[in-house]
Amino acid sequence: MNGIVHCLVVGSPIRHSRSPLIHRLFAEQFGIALRYEKREVQPGELADAITSFRQSGVCGINVTVPLKEEACALATLLSPRARVAGAANVLSFNADGSLEADNTDGLGLVRDLDAHGVALAGRRMLLLGAGGAARGVLPALLGAGAASVTVANRTLARAEALVAALSGLGTLAAAGLDDVFEAPFDLILNATSAGLTSTDGPPVSHSALGASTVCYDLVYGRGEMPFLAWARGCGVTQRIDGLGMLVEQAAAAFERWHGRKPATAPVIEALREQR
Ligand code: ATR
Repeated sequence: MNGIVHCLVVGSPIRHSRSPLIHRLFAEQFGIALRYEKREVQPGELADAITSFRQSGVCGINVTVPLKEEACALATLLSPRARVAGAANVLSFNADGSLEADNTDGLGLVRDLDAHGVALAGRRMLLLGAGGAARGVLPALLGAGAASVTVANRTLARAEALVAALSGLGTLAAAGLDDVFEAPFDLILNATSAGLTSTDGPPVSHSALGASTVCYDLVYGRGEMPFLAWARGCGVTQRIDGLGMLVEQAAAAFERWHGRKPATAPVIEALREQR
């Protein structure tokens, strides 16, 4: 052992990942000697990659799109929140030889909403999307005391399946993306990948918006993402992108691996300045 802790982030594409910078800034807060690299890994190749990472003494792996489900399936131990999500963004090599999967995305989202002063208890929420990202954060939103969450998705059947799978955790409803709603929501969260693949966000009915609705985009981009541009055009005053969530989910992984809780606000600020 040379005292240097070795961690990685894997995914595809991985070139633009901010995780190495985020973890380096966290490590500096404690004087931890950290080597944190990004590795391009294609779907279907994660098992072999994990074997070689284990042999080279890697301590932990962050997992991003499109490997989160594969990571969960390869783990020999699942945290309760990874089991519910069926997806993992954190893998840890435990001393007993087990490979433990965790999902800190939901916690990261809830912590970032809290940092923005957005109360969740008793609130009506609209979650756009029913894929892995939506599934990963839904349990945390319900756990934070949401009065109800309506899951709206382009493919209604997928929203219905997600609602059915997690119905035991709270009050859930399924909707189509173009549904007209009877009452506005306190919080609308975009967990679709619509804004990544086109310049349009998911189409949402204006009936979802009230005077104090908060809009949150789980995605973080260098410019304003389409969903938040739509919200701005509709006069929504509190619009939040996913940068804070990205840093908070990383902080939870960092704490798991190094036993220290890093300050996130200065890191979020540093990343914003880099834009
Ligand atoms: P992720 O892991 O990022 O959630 P995913 O599981 O492929 O990725 O899910 C992508 C989500 O974005 C889905 O909810 C998808 O809707 P469908 O289930 O109908 O495919 C949604 N999505 C992707 N492109 C979209 C678009 N152009 N408009 C609306 N929703 C879109």
